[in-house]
Amino acid sequence: MAAPWLLLLLLAAPGAVQGSGCRAGARGAAAEGCGPTGLLLEHSFETDDNVHFRKRGSLTWNVQDGTITLTQRQLTEDERGRLRDVAALNGLYRVRVPRKPGAVEGLVAAGHVSSFVPACSLVESHLSDRLTLHVDVAGNVVGLSVVTEPGGCRGHEVEDVDLELFNTTVQLQPPLTAPGPETAAFIERLEMEQAQKAKNPQEQKSFFAKYWHLILGGAVFLTAMRPARGPAPSSEA
Ligand SMILES: *[C@@H]1O[C@H](CO)[C@@H](O)[C@H](O)[C@H]1NC(C)=O
Repeated sequence: MAAPWLLLLLLAAPGAVQGSGCRAGARGAAAEGCGPTGLLLEHSFETDDNVHFRKRGSLTWNVQDGTITLTQRQLTEDERGRLRDVAALNGLYRVRVPRKPGAVEGLVAAGHVSSFVPACSLVESHLSDRLTLHVDVAGNVVGLSVVTEPGGCRGHEVEDVDLELFNTTVQLQPPLTAPGPETAAFIERLEMEQAQKAKNPQEQKSFFAKYWHLILGGAVFLTAMRPARGPAPSSEA
């Protein structure tokens, strides 16, 4: 009777089953062994310089092999017009991603990281940009940068057809490893000692089991000595 119950539990908790290597309670963060996680990429470009983020695309970050891919749709005619207007007004083009990958849309408690370029440089680069996500060891996004290629605004004319598709390079910037203690070597030594102990069960006997005769002997010795010693002097001059 246990099998149907188990199956029911598995069906009821797909999140717990998928990615057994994930830390419990850390499903928001892309913990090691969790496989690919999604990140919503949003952008904002408004003629009144207000900030109003909308979906630009979806990033898929594979923590295990350290790769990231981006799928994004093309700009609508309306968006192309607005981007040109913002560029003409010397406005900003902003992008943002959530700090915690995999968080449900609209429930991003940890907030976002964002960056921006002058809208005119995005127009003149024909929507060619490079996004860099700076990530930490825990699988959070700690920074975002955007540059257009080429950068800068020279007042070049841009045709509408050049503002349809993004030409984006995405890259991950993992944390730089600081010089640290040789943890690997230490763990290896611990494991060797553990293996040695497992081979020799005598070693695992407790302290008292090993030395009971000495302890008992000592106790008997002290008890035997006590009456002969008499009261201890209260001070020594
Ligand atoms: C895409 O961007 C790269 C630079 O990141 C550039 O060399 C290339 O010409 C661009 N392609 C198009 C079609 O704009």
